[in-house]
Amino acid sequence: KKVAILLSGGGSNMVALLDSMTGDHPARASLVMSNDSEAGGLKKAAARGIATAAVDHRPFKGDRATFEAELIKPLIAAEPDIVCLAGFMRVLTADFVTQFQGRMLNIHPSLLPKYKGLHTHARALEAGDAHHGCTVHEVTAALDDGPILGQATVDVLPEDTPDLLAARVLKKEHMLYPAVLRRFAQGDRTPILLS
Ligand code: GRF
Repeated sequence: KKVAILLSGGGSNMVALLDSMTGDHPARASLVMSNDSEAGGLKKAAARGIATAAVDHRPFKGDRATFEAELIKPLIAAEPDIVCLAGFMRVLTADFVTQFQGRMLNIHPSLLPKYKGLHTHARALEAGDAHHGCTVHEVTAALDDGPILGQATVDVLPEDTPDLLAARVLKKEHMLYPAVLRRFAQGDRTPILLS
């Protein structure tokens, strides 16, 4: 199975996914793409010998459709079986998503359906939640909304700040996403729950 990974920043989730696709793992990464040509994750992917591509979203201003028409070109060319959004910070239109329906995954730093969107750690703290975490889900046209494939939880601690909480959640992301990808690549969509 060929996997394409989309990222916007440092790509720590991409690195965790790359490092997991070894040995008898049924998938290998064939492309790492970003909406930011300066994204640190692109350098990490290149250092690991993975092909990279970037389509900067800024020149397209609000013209999401034209940006996506460019973004999808290298993605289609790579012929991925699975597309993983990993710290990808652009909302994708329904047109783009439907072209990968059923084989596009995303990791979101909350226990969906709670806290769709941004600033999830601050919102969990604000709400006084005892637990927080991350979710891997299939991507559908609705934001952060598709079938859940895995979740990992962390305890919220009394002295937590958004950054402290985010750091603990990120560590769980690096465990959850590779586990879900391995199972998904074997055609198994049974949700994985990590405590
Ligand atoms: C992090 O906030 C993570 O929780 C979310 O995307 C952001 C960047 O992740 N999934 P990464 O280090 O670029 O994978």
